[in-house]
Amino acid sequence: MGKIVKVSGPLVVATGMEEANMADVVRVGEQRLIGEILNMTGDAASIQVYEETSGLGPGAEVVTTGAPLSVELGPGLIENIYDGIQRPLEVIREVSGSNSLPRGVEVPALDREKKWAFTPAVQPGTRVVGGDVLGTVQETESILHKIMLPPRMKGTIVSIQGGPFTVTETVAVLEQEDGSRVELPMMQKWPVRVGRPYKHKYPPVVPLQSGQRIVDTFFPVAKGGTAAIPGPFGSGKTVMQHALAKWSDVDLVVYIGCGERGNEMTDVLREFPELVDPRTGQSLMKRTVLIANTSDMPVAAREASIYTGITIAEYFRDMGYAVAVIADSTSRWAEALREMSGRLEEMPGEEGYPAYLSSRLAQFYERAGSVACLGSDEDRRGSLTAVGAVSPPGGDLSEPVSQATMRIVKVFWALDSSLAYRRHFPAINWLNSYSLYLDSLKPWYDEHLGKDFLQNREWAMAVLQEEASLNEIVQLVGKDSLSARDQITLETAKMIREDFLQQNSFVDIDSYSEYDRQARMLALIREYDGHCREAAERGGDLAQMFSIPAREKIGRAKSVPANQYMDNYANIMVEMDEEINAIAEKGEEAL
Ligand SMILES: Nc1ncnc2c1ncn2[C@@H]1O[C@H](COP(=O)(O)OP(=O)(O)OP(=O)(O)O)[C@@H](O)[C@H]1O
Ligand SMILES: [Mg+2]
Repeated sequence: MGKIVKVSGPLVVATGMEEANMADVVRVGEQRLIGEILNMTGDAASIQVYEETSGLGPGAEVVTTGAPLSVELGPGLIENIYDGIQRPLEVIREVSGSNSLPRGVEVPALDREKKWAFTPAVQPGTRVVGGDVLGTVQETESILHKIMLPPRMKGTIVSIQGGPFTVTETVAVLEQEDGSRVELPMMQKWPVRVGRPYKHKYPPVVPLQSGQRIVDTFFPVAKGGTAAIPGPFGSGKTVMQHALAKWSDVDLVVYIGCGERGNEMTDVLREFPELVDPRTGQSLMKRTVLIANTSDMPVAAREASIYTGITIAEYFRDMGYAVAVIADSTSRWAEALREMSGRLEEMPGEEGYPAYLSSRLAQFYERAGSVACLGSDEDRRGSLTAVGAVSPPGGDLSEPVSQATMRIVKVFWALDSSLAYRRHFPAINWLNSYSLYLDSLKPWYDEHLGKDFLQNREWAMAVLQEEASLNEIVQLVGKDSLSARDQITLETAKMIREDFLQQNSFVDIDSYSEYDRQARMLALIREYDGHCREAAERGGDLAQMFSIPAREKIGRAKSVPANQYMDNYANIMVEMDEEINAIAEKGEEAL
């Protein structure tokens, strides 16, 4: 047992801690506040305390638990809301009857009373290894929770029984190689700072379908990939992340509200239960785990929150599910890291962030991937996609958190305040965003959307780049001096921006756009562009071409109901061909 010698905000130094180890969870003071040892010098431990430390002073006792910071994994995770160290916020509020988190309350992360119907998947006598599925629990209508043998264990099942059990009751008994027997409950624990093991990683070859056109068509992220959403204040980071959480075609979403305003989490809590998962017809909460460490909660737990979140995500990945982790915002997380580093009086790096900022960020994103899951079955695959928002002060991407993130992630959706100001949403700048997955996803696109898809995408990107350079000329000499070709380029670019890329998250019919629809929409615009160029050569009048009825219909294409778009778009194809051809013919007569 040690004694406190110094308290500095969330940092506590205690001596007499020779029995403790680095990374141990400790209990601090009479209130038994939860802390974690950051480093040890001799018998002195520097401890980050996850709860408010006011009232704590020198002389108070510190006891180590001897265990690292871990999460509880088992039925009951889904639909739950946890803080950064997996304390169930709703339950705590019920127990304490107060709205602010009381200190030192001990409530287990998984409900100890609730019984879950366990169905065995193996018989006594079966040889099992870590990761093997022992049985299942239908946790929600959307998720079949697979109860797995914890990693690194193996042996023979001696007994196993179905029926209603709590997470700590024994459902099976395992005889290990050395003859010893272990009772297995449904719950397992895992230290949050250690990635859960898998057999091997696969290259990510399937896109995560988000229903957001700028993402899916322009800058896709693969399932198992990493992406960042950098953007200045109010540019749409949170709206974008909510859209990804709502619409991504994954089995489970872990949403980490990390240092953001409390009301943004309230939005999630209010909105998600009402939203319907398009694939299961169930409430979206039935596939969501929320981690909330809002700006009004203790800063240290914010540091832990992204690891807590990604560990829960890995656990579901291990079952063979596609999981997405969404963190808003990693800049707030980095600020927590900076604050602790400052209190530890470490040598500051750039802008006061510790030198290990980028390695810590990497430790988060590295845990993404498309993997062969642990276990003796051959083909269980899971994926973990990680998406983090970054809020660079003033939108300046040269600051340390943006730079470190950019070196790690493979997709960059750069939000732009000037686009947001013009109400072009999502305000993702197409000129400085990128995806490094296009090559690995190409076979998928070719197979599912046809070879045209990537060609049309490249064409559209080229048109937008040309628009950017033409705009410079227009500013100098005016639009009228441009050739017919260039004027068509500008008109087409406008269509790509307004009719395709702009997508309002708050208009139901357009908040989600499936891949096939995106492909057809872009094909429409390219077809229009091609017809216009041909007609212009035949002497057709540009102004007339730009105002044909079919052009307007393309503008409204995104609001056509999902069950009508195929016919509707096919009709537009025919109409625009006729309308532009008529203009070309008039042109030829006039020549
Ligand atoms: N896709 C979208 N469709 C429609 N409106 C949008 C979209 N994205 C953003 N907006 C508008 O921009 C506002 C700000 O967006 P949001 O809260 O996501 O910004 P933020 O980058 O998270 O800001 P902060 O830096 O304050 O966290 C929204 O309230 C909404 O009005
Ligand atoms: Mg936000």
